[in-house]
Amino acid sequence: PESGSLAIVVLGASGDLAKKKTFPALFHLYRQGFLPPDEVHIFGYARTKISDDELRNRLHGYLVPDKGASPEKLDDVAKFLQLIKYVSGSYDSEDGFRLLDKEISEHESLKNSTEGSSRRLFYLALPPSVYPSVCKMIKTCCMNKSDLGGWTRVVVEKPFGKDLDSAEELSTEIGKLFEEPQIYRIDHYLGKELVQNLLVLRFANRFFLPLWNRDNIDNVQIVFREDFGTDGRGGYFDQYGIIRDIIQNHLLQVLCLVAMEKPISLKPEHIRDEKVKVLESVLPIRDDEVVLGQYEGYRDDPTVPDESNTPTFATAILRIHNERWEGVPFILKAGKALNSRKAEIRVQFKDVPGDIFKCKKQGRNEFVIRLQPSEAIYMKLTVKQPGLEMSTVQSELDLSYGQRYQGVIIPEAYERLILDTIKGDQQHFVRRDELKASWQIFTPLLHRIDGGELKPIPYKPGSRGPAEADQLLEKAGYVQTHGY
Ligand code: BG6
Repeated sequence: PESGSLAIVVLGASGDLAKKKTFPALFHLYRQGFLPPDEVHIFGYARTKISDDELRNRLHGYLVPDKGASPEKLDDVAKFLQLIKYVSGSYDSEDGFRLLDKEISEHESLKNSTEGSSRRLFYLALPPSVYPSVCKMIKTCCMNKSDLGGWTRVVVEKPFGKDLDSAEELSTEIGKLFEEPQIYRIDHYLGKELVQNLLVLRFANRFFLPLWNRDNIDNVQIVFREDFGTDGRGGYFDQYGIIRDIIQNHLLQVLCLVAMEKPISLKPEHIRDEKVKVLESVLPIRDDEVVLGQYEGYRDDPTVPDESNTPTFATAILRIHNERWEGVPFILKAGKALNSRKAEIRVQFKDVPGDIFKCKKQGRNEFVIRLQPSEAIYMKLTVKQPGLEMSTVQSELDLSYGQRYQGVIIPEAYERLILDTIKGDQQHFVRRDELKASWQIFTPLLHRIDGGELKPIPYKPGSRGPAEADQLLEKAGYVQTHGY
């Protein structure tokens, strides 16, 4: 592995994302020894004028949310916070970035104990509107200058654009400044344990190889539900809506991994090549295969306009035009303020031909991958009801991680992905052509929603969402299974 000094710069250090996700992920990596203090320094950068200690104090509560934290943990927190320096400056003027560069260089001269190479990681926990100017400033003022090797990388968060044109514009701007191997477009769903398991499940198991196609699979559902609304983030959310917030990125990435062909190797480029092929095979989304919803009370948020047409719920059917998937609906569903918090993939198989047990009413074979909460993989199948009678019942082959892997700590998505950026592994990051293809799929639909041609149906907070979405599922061929 590379060594030498490593500067991690969190831009937007006082924002929500940085406090809730980026710094806690860095802390976990530090605790596990991935950020050795003799090499690493962390810089927070933002406009607010605060001192190092003020930033440290603000972060403390996010690093120790638990009241009864052990003395060891508190000690680690204190040491970790000492690695953090704060630099204040604007996002579009050189002064701040020159100062940042000076601070990084000072730390490099202190910590280049090994071969003196310099690694600089810039994490943009910022709104995309400032990406171009921030990237320009990094390029002008803060690049790695060591002759002895190292690198400069930038990590950007979604939303990466608002539609095809704006995303391409953003990509072009950033592409003028950085090469693709320097740009890490993060989609944190790609860091989730069970999302990372998809390739293994599909391609390392003989069970699935012959079944994973249109001859056997009736429909696939990829579902995201949250049991809370957009409280506190209404202003951001209203500009984007549920399709841009969840479906166009998180759920579509999952779809790629479910639907793609086997890559020729596990090299990031080979995997991403296959994902792009899936995205480019998706047919235009039909209006009659979309249901939009907005929960009642959403517009009460003072940051949301009274007339907002923004969906907080959407179900859309995607159809992949290729030999494996022709005719199989991929149902993507996401919603805020629903009855539960859950993200899962449900692969529903076709009915058994010539059924002699009349078991159809019991439900179909279903293969379920629950991403969260409580990671699990289970298979719904029909078995004989134990007892004297020859009757059937639907049961489950269940691999619940909590039971099977007791004591194993599953890393947070951000933790894993930040470590990948340090290692230079882009497998779980979105390539430019992938991003473009994913915007291509949703842009026409998004423009119809933005133009008011399609309207969300109101639904009650805490419900399953609009009833029309369940009707669409049924029409697509989904058969409700027992207990779901
Ligand atoms: C983010 C969205 O990308 O993902 C949020 O902007 C959403 O609206 C979040 O709440 C969900 O992430 P997770 O990991 O909690 O499922």
